[in-house]
Amino acid sequence: MGDSLRVAIAGLGTVGAGVVRLIDTNAGLIARRAGRPIEVVAVSARDRSKDRGIDMGRFDWVDDPVDLARHGNADVVVELVGGSDGPALALARATLASGKGLVTANKAMIAHHGLELASAAEAAAVPLKFEAAVAGGVPVIKGLREGAAANELTRVAGILNGTCNFILSKMEAEGRDFADVLAEAQRLGFAEADPSFDIDGVDAAHKLSILAALAFGTRPAFGSVAISGIRHVIAADIAEAAALGYRIRLVGIAEAGSNGLFQRVHPHLVPMDHPLAHVTGSLNAVMAEGNFVGPLLFQGRGAGEGPTASAVVADLIDIARGEYGPPYAMPADALADAEPEAAGERRGRAYLRLTVADKVGVLAEIAAAMRDAGVSIESLIQRGAASDGSVLVVIVTHEGPERAVAHALDKLSGSPSIIGQPMWMHILG
Ligand code: NDP
Ligand code: HSE
Repeated sequence: MGDSLRVAIAGLGTVGAGVVRLIDTNAGLIARRAGRPIEVVAVSARDRSKDRGIDMGRFDWVDDPVDLARHGNADVVVELVGGSDGPALALARATLASGKGLVTANKAMIAHHGLELASAAEAAAVPLKFEAAVAGGVPVIKGLREGAAANELTRVAGILNGTCNFILSKMEAEGRDFADVLAEAQRLGFAEADPSFDIDGVDAAHKLSILAALAFGTRPAFGSVAISGIRHVIAADIAEAAALGYRIRLVGIAEAGSNGLFQRVHPHLVPMDHPLAHVTGSLNAVMAEGNFVGPLLFQGRGAGEGPTASAVVADLIDIARGEYGPPYAMPADALADAEPEAAGERRGRAYLRLTVADKVGVLAEIAAAMRDAGVSIESLIQRGAASDGSVLVVIVTHEGPERAVAHALDKLSGSPSIIGQPMWMHILG
């Protein structure tokens, strides 16, 4: 058996403590599979005295995580601090500059700075690996980078945020409140330090942009992801969707084609018989289509200590074996520029929920706005009046251009009959 791969870990929270626990628990198996032991030699976090449920006193403690980049004993640094910039990015840059390999679970940092870091890793001929950054324990990066490497991929779609999926599943199955389920996701360690990244769709967009770059061989383009989260999904939407034969899921879709690069994270109505409708709790799932392999489906736990640590340590095992290549499956300077496709050019069916004043002529006004914008209505449901005199109107449209739906909603915005913001969700085809 060869010399140990010596690892320094920055960040000892949910994921960092999980990585130490996994390496302790499965040390013998990992050594046999990696061909040599993986040994933690140094750690860093903010609070040295915090009880992390596992002995950290046996490792060299370093106060400033960036100093791990120059730690004389470490071969590889694992960054588990989080945040797109700040100490995480300073550590990543310093690690690669000092000729050490880097493993990270930090999708925010990779979405914003992945190209720069990949170029630095390639220039230094050291590994940069980030399996845990997308879909937690699900080996989707390995699957696309290696397993599907021979295929042209033109579409990836999936459920990429465990917190949102946990919230939507619990709201549907147990009728619980949004805030109550979010608090549980935070307790379970799924949610980001700032949970608005989860519920507003930003975390899923970080992951989608990483997958799109890997799948299509295009430069990462987080800035062109159209993002909308689940903050405005209400219990009535879940009930109406169920009555229509759908479940609500936050779905990310990326496509590369002659119209350019399309990337969107939005809540969708997913037909009950679609595989993504059966992805519940903190599970994630990613679907991809290759021109030779056909459809692929990756599914598993997308967040939490165990699954995320599993992905981080899998990256370390690859490094211990000497198995790594360019982070985006091809050299960073070979990635193509992709112009973003305009969302309005797309076609689809839409779910619209409007809260309206319960008075004569409201439905006629809505129908006229749809007609004038060229939106064809498949069904329209009005539910009985609330105590404040408002009613919910739920419309499902026939397939048509998204720009027509946007135009109809523009026409209605400002109408005294419409209360608050309409909710628009796409219906997954
Ligand atoms: P936590 O908030 O649980 O842990 C963050 C750790 O970083 C803590 O140990 C904290 O120290 C330390 N830290 C924070 N700021 C500093 C700083 N300025 N200097 C030194 N140490 C610092 O986060 P997670 O473990 O949940 O997430 C870590 C990374 O993994 C993030 O990038 C996240 O997006 C990603 N990730 C998380 C998943 C999950 O399910 N939780 C899944 C996939 C990816 P202290 O403990 O002393 O406060
Ligand atoms: N907050 C993220 C989620 C963690 O809920 O999916 C996993 O990346």
